[in-house]
Amino acid sequence: MCGIIGYTGYRQASEVLMEALKRLEYRGYDSAGIAILSPNLSMHKQKGELDRLRVRLPKIEGNVGIGHTRWATCGKPSNENAHPFVDCTGKIAIVHNGIIENYMQLKEQLGLESNRFTSQTDTEVIVHLIEKHFNGNLLDAVRLAMNEIKGTYAVAAMVQGSNELIAARKENPLVIGVGVNENFIASDVTALLSYTNKVKYVMDGEIVSITPDRIRIFDPEGNEVQREDFVVTWNAEDAQKGGFSHFMLKEIFEEPQAIHNSLLGALDIIKNGDILPNVQFNSIKMIACGSSFNAAMVGKYIMEEMAKIPVTLELASEYRYSPGAKEFPLVILISQSGETADTLAAAREARRRGCRTLGITNVIGSTLTREVDEVVYTRAGPEIGVAATKTFITQLIALYIIAIRVGYAKRALGHDSMWGYLNELRKMPGIVQSVLDRASEIEKASNILVEARDVFFIGRNINYPTVLEGALKLKEISYIHAEGYAAGELKHGPLALLDSKTPVIAVAIQKDLTYDKMLANISEVAARESPVLAIGCEGDRELAQLSDVQISVPCVQPLFSPIPVTIVFQLLSYYAANKRGCSIDKPKNLAKSVTVE
Ligand code: AGP
Repeated sequence: MCGIIGYTGYRQASEVLMEALKRLEYRGYDSAGIAILSPNLSMHKQKGELDRLRVRLPKIEGNVGIGHTRWATCGKPSNENAHPFVDCTGKIAIVHNGIIENYMQLKEQLGLESNRFTSQTDTEVIVHLIEKHFNGNLLDAVRLAMNEIKGTYAVAAMVQGSNELIAARKENPLVIGVGVNENFIASDVTALLSYTNKVKYVMDGEIVSITPDRIRIFDPEGNEVQREDFVVTWNAEDAQKGGFSHFMLKEIFEEPQAIHNSLLGALDIIKNGDILPNVQFNSIKMIACGSSFNAAMVGKYIMEEMAKIPVTLELASEYRYSPGAKEFPLVILISQSGETADTLAAAREARRRGCRTLGITNVIGSTLTREVDEVVYTRAGPEIGVAATKTFITQLIALYIIAIRVGYAKRALGHDSMWGYLNELRKMPGIVQSVLDRASEIEKASNILVEARDVFFIGRNINYPTVLEGALKLKEISYIHAEGYAAGELKHGPLALLDSKTPVIAVAIQKDLTYDKMLANISEVAARESPVLAIGCEGDRELAQLSDVQISVPCVQPLFSPIPVTIVFQLLSYYAANKRGCSIDKPKNLAKSVTVE
């Protein structure tokens, strides 16, 4: 969602801001803008892609500025509603990510005090509140303004005549980039990778002041606090396309390496037992949104099979409103970004209910890591495409590892079975690579989807959640309506929708308990003349006879089959969307990091 950048130093601020906003594009946005002290405040904003702003931007000299990519929540996407916003004097400017809940009351009150409003946004009240409290000290004015606000925010502010930037956060991400004779603030580290790999994370309720040579951080009570620098291991290249036509494709092809890295980290968990040092819980609840929820669903099958422990699932957006039975499961919260507002709210609620919490995330220092008792990192590297690909796969790796850890500790798994599973996991980078080696075959197979209006994905057992993920991927980037179904459910309704124009993608993995039943379900589909694209094991002739197109994956134990099958789904979706000319890395209406509830 919205991306924030602030710069104070010796470089041309306009160049830094535009470069950083480019890096923040992946979060999702519909308009962009910058404000620079030159030395008077010069502001430029534009609806649409960043390039539309770039071509309209005059040459602006100045070393202090703030910038923003907006993802509309309050007020439609337009030039007027784009950030930054300035006060009535035209000297104070702000950018904001989040939602101000009491903005109507504040707007009414500030309007009576003859403030001019130029937009329909909630954000604009912030700059007028700061103006109201400003008497030469921006830090104090921001603090007083924030005290009047109800809602969530990451805000950056500056005032003409000063090289100080003030920023504040409540439930929205904010990080300080530490430089030499220059400093930065940003929504996330990817914006800063071209300039610095040293960051300080800003905690909830804190306010910060940065100048080129000084960083000060204040806690909610106004006390100055010291914060260690954190060195980020991602580099600028990781966040570039590297010759691929889209980030999504690059990120799919990075999956063997991502799994390898994820396994390296995870194996420490097994060796050192440094997560879940005691396993005094009798059940697990997994909570997440979107693809991360689909990973959790796969995780339920893994956990129940390997650790023989009951698992329940809840969507993060529902959990905090659920009645909450008197039970104390281990709560596992899964979020690649670690910033999804619903998942963070669920983490807080789980703790409030007295549950032990474990987070699975890809982003070191993300808010989730501070809201849970223990963290497992997926180590997939930066993921820029809005569609979760390598982060989804590495979430599965983390779940396998946690299941093995819990299963072994609870004696549901013996030593040999534990090593059997670990050895199977070690094969996964190679298995995934061999699916990627079939990319051109998968590209050809995607033709079956390109003209479709509706597509069904069917699977059973552990590949039921896999098909939910396949359908989500396809609809998200190709805008084709897709539904994932447990194959046994077809005849309870959706079969009525099948015809020769509705392709069905079916997963049937040999040796899976449900394999024969899947073949029967595929026959039912074929009888309705739906074109069938089947995904199954290498050499499965029976499946080939039932399907119009078959994509084979290497034979693995059924419990691990979601990994190769998902890679096929990701590639199918990518190629279908590409042939339809869709905006693959930034699908319409979607954001990478969903920081509003
Ligand atoms: C996945 O392709 C989607 N972009 C989306 O469903 C995503 O998984 C969801 O918003 C949750 O994000 P998180 O993992 O960062 O919490």
